[in-house]
Amino acid sequence: MLFNGSIPENIHFGRKCRHLWKNFLIPGKVLLVCGRHSVPILQAETAALEQECKIVTVSGELPLSEIEAILNSVKNDGFTNIVGWGGGSAMDGAKALAALITAPLPAAEYFYCRAELPKRECRLILIPTTAGTGAEITANAVICDHATNIKQSLRGPGMTADAALVDPELLEAAPEKVTVSAAFDALTQALESFTSARSTALTRSIAATAAALILQNLESAVCHQTPAAFDALARGSMLTGIAFASSGLGAVHGLAHPLGSLLSIPHGKCCAILLLPVLKRNSAADPELFTALAQECGYSSAEALFAEISVLQKKFDIPQNFKKYGLTPADYDFIVKNCRSGSMKCNRKFYSDDDIRELFGELA
Ligand SMILES: [Fe+2]
Repeated sequence: MLFNGSIPENIHFGRKCRHLWKNFLIPGKVLLVCGRHSVPILQAETAALEQECKIVTVSGELPLSEIEAILNSVKNDGFTNIVGWGGGSAMDGAKALAALITAPLPAAEYFYCRAELPKRECRLILIPTTAGTGAEITANAVICDHATNIKQSLRGPGMTADAALVDPELLEAAPEKVTVSAAFDALTQALESFTSARSTALTRSIAATAAALILQNLESAVCHQTPAAFDALARGSMLTGIAFASSGLGAVHGLAHPLGSLLSIPHGKCCAILLLPVLKRNSAADPELFTALAQECGYSSAEALFAEISVLQKKFDIPQNFKKYGLTPADYDFIVKNCRSGSMKCNRKFYSDDDIRELFGELA
């Protein structure tokens, strides 16, 4: 088996390809899901469209309460097309709404896996504006229930988009801190995909290409606004999505979800801080694998790869620990209890509850 996952049937990559979204619409109403900054852009995009359109916005880290509120307002309106335009939350919001819009039960029933999602009936089109989550490719939506601090994926048949349109031009409008955070998320995904227990020769090749693109182009994109560097970041992020749609991720993502939801740390920042402490532990447990990873990414050794990541972290002021977010030993039980996700199971090194407490002891 070389690939075992679901990815969009149509993937377009290139400058201006965002405008192709109208070509994938089916007759009927169009629901557009975006972050609030994208509203004027979508108003312009839809101005000449003859189909009836409605634009709804979602917040970062995608609260379950927002999905429920949007569903209540649109569920009986007969939308046949859902378009996600934005960062991971907007695209995950579109995926969740597409899956839930015909579901008979409240969203929480599906979020907590007490019911199976029905088959999706509407068209789903995704357009990323950051190079980070790879959410335009993957078949799940990461949602946070602020009432319980549980952050996990909604999964089900038909959550894969019909079309993903990856247009690097859209990345250029993002603030520097968004580009950096997103890139560290994508880099983490690439490195975790390569080393995942479910990786294959094909997914490792895709993941290493993605990691190299991100490592080599983040500085040029952020510091020099080089169009070619934005192209490379967009390509790298898209490739991570393709790789981990099959391979799954690892302990950084397993730990980042409960930690991020508990202390309200943005996902990319959470991954960026956890990345090296986790990678170094994983590497000590399997030096050969991490040497292969480093060499596939163009570095002589795992230590050289880690040094490069460390240089980027310092350049972009990534904190070394979670002190400023208020992490204390009182938080460890929640993290330990809620980290045993599919991502954690893909990590080749097993982390016992004590290992996790010890790791966070160094980062608190
Ligand atoms: Fe991620």
